[in-house]
Amino acid sequence: MSRGTLIAGNWKMHETVPEAEQLIQALLPRVSSLDGVEIAICPPYTALAPMVDSARGSRVAIFAQNMHESERGAFTGEVSASMLVDLGVGGVIVGHSERRAFFGETDSRLAQKLPAALAAGLVPILCVGESEAQRAAGETEAHLRAQLEADFAAIEPARYAEVVVAYEPIWAIGTGRVATPEQAQEAVSFIRQVLAETSAAGAAQARLLYGGSVTADNAKELLALDDVDGALVGGASLSAESFATICAAARQ
Ligand code: PGA
Repeated sequence: MSRGTLIAGNWKMHETVPEAEQLIQALLPRVSSLDGVEIAICPPYTALAPMVDSARGSRVAIFAQNMHESERGAFTGEVSASMLVDLGVGGVIVGHSERRAFFGETDSRLAQKLPAALAAGLVPILCVGESEAQRAAGETEAHLRAQLEADFAAIEPARYAEVVVAYEPIWAIGTGRVATPEQAQEAVSFIRQVLAETSAAGAAQARLLYGGSVTADNAKELLALDDVDGALVGGASLSAESFATICAAARQ
């Protein structure tokens, strides 16, 4: 089954508006002919509206890096799904390991964020992944299963296909220590298997990404893996040239 390929660039807390403008202007011509590859960039909140404007009519979608699960309310500093939709944002990363580690993101919040994103019409990219200690202790699969079961708890099986899951081993994020193709394939096919226990059709259609030290040099090998339908790219998405090379590698 062809699931389509998604390459998403997570800019994290990088790029002022003028810097973001420079980056996207360098990126757009480099990816304009890459038919068949879905491309998203995830700028910080402050650059979302200008990036939506700059990307209009291009093949690049604009996603956010986080959202609050409630529609509105007394939640200082937070942004809701409908506020993102209002700007023209098409999707949102939820449960990134940096949010889980530094900002107290919990699985029970994620169980609310996922249905809220879907209800608003956003494509959620849910991040899951084990720490180095968990991998060393042989707990990778148990951890992935626990995260998936908790985070998907309130999603109707009929909507599984709409959730993108990014497998991001924490030890590979920002470290230059990319997972081996075997490690990536094993974990991603395990994720598909866990989803299939609840929705076989949804699991077959859901796009599963690999993330963690993806570069222009290693992307081709990772994107060729059977169960890997794309990549979530951090550091390398801050260079238009590297990110465009990764997007081109998805068109194999
Ligand atoms: P990295 O980050 O590509 O810089 O390792 C990936 C991510 O955090 O999504």
